[in-house]
Amino acid sequence: MEKMLLENCSRFTRGEILLQTSVRSFISPNLVKTSEEDVSKAGLRPVKDWRAFGLHGYPGFIFISNPFLPGSQQYWVKQCLKIYPQKPNVCNLDMHMSSVETENIWGKSRDVIQRKGCGKREPKTLLEKLRWVTLGYHYDWNSKTYSPDHYTPFPKELHSLSHKVAAACGFPGFNTEAGILNYYRSDSSLGIHVDESELDHTRPLLSFSFGQTAVFLLGGTKREDRPTAMFMNSGDIMVMSGPSRLLYHAVPCIIAAQAGNMLPPCLGQRLETEAQGDDNIQNMSDEDWDVCYWYLQTSRVNVTVRQVLASGQTFPSSQASHLSTDSCEKSEEGTQKNKKRKSESGCERDT
Ligand code: OGA
Ligand code: MN
Repeated sequence: MEKMLLENCSRFTRGEILLQTSVRSFISPNLVKTSEEDVSKAGLRPVKDWRAFGLHGYPGFIFISNPFLPGSQQYWVKQCLKIYPQKPNVCNLDMHMSSVETENIWGKSRDVIQRKGCGKREPKTLLEKLRWVTLGYHYDWNSKTYSPDHYTPFPKELHSLSHKVAAACGFPGFNTEAGILNYYRSDSSLGIHVDESELDHTRPLLSFSFGQTAVFLLGGTKREDRPTAMFMNSGDIMVMSGPSRLLYHAVPCIIAAQAGNMLPPCLGQRLETEAQGDDNIQNMSDEDWDVCYWYLQTSRVNVTVRQVLASGQTFPSSQASHLSTDSCEKSEEGTQKNKKRKSESGCERDT
């Protein structure tokens, strides 16, 4: 699948991909109408207004077309660019840079961007070099496992968003235990893989996309199964659950807007109402939005949220302690392998 699709990628146009997907008809998944007020705190429209689709042939796959309230995507973008790359979370830059160098990725990048405005040639910012961030149980790219010994608190507001989306999709009590953020530049891709490292596959995997559009390929249970291609636009949410939880998938390319076309309109909107004290989402300063805006013109951010363990389950004892040093302080060997896997040009991930 990977080869065929990567070859096809350069020939993709919107029309071609829509043609491929249109041979499959959409079905309406049963959404659970959760409290309106509750979902708006996470920046979501009332569930009754969501445009959600299932796909014939892919039971358990749910695609929700941008259910975010006007203006609220900006908040999530800021969290992904300014907050989540901060310690104690882990990012690709930690693999080959010191903690002093990777401190304040946002602030250092903002300073460079502001100087760029003066017409000077500047090196790439740390934000431009960011490829992935892990949250909660930090995924170990070498061993392809999560470890109880490398856990930091999962962001509360992202838990709240995910918990609400999962509940609306029929999965109450979703425990957000791990997150992987992928940062795509216009030439990035994500290789074909299955997300199977979580120990409980009965829980869904949630995916949130912001920024430039991606082509998403949903394959089958075998690598060579012919995939269905679809666009992931800014604000779209995808849920892989049930029989679709362990399907192969990939992101062969990003379809970045033509220079000067700026951002999708849904991203340009500011919040309509002042957020209340207990709301997750808040307004941001113009200065913060300027950095997000600059970054998103050529980039896409994808957040996947995972429940790793069944409720009450613990890690098998073989996975504890002896992996801990390996997963926390990357060994030199691990770092080298990791560099190879996560190439500069994108988020190539082996399965
Ligand atoms: C992942 C993933 C898809 C995307 O992070 O596992 O499949 O749309 N992401 O970026
Ligand atoms: Mn995946």
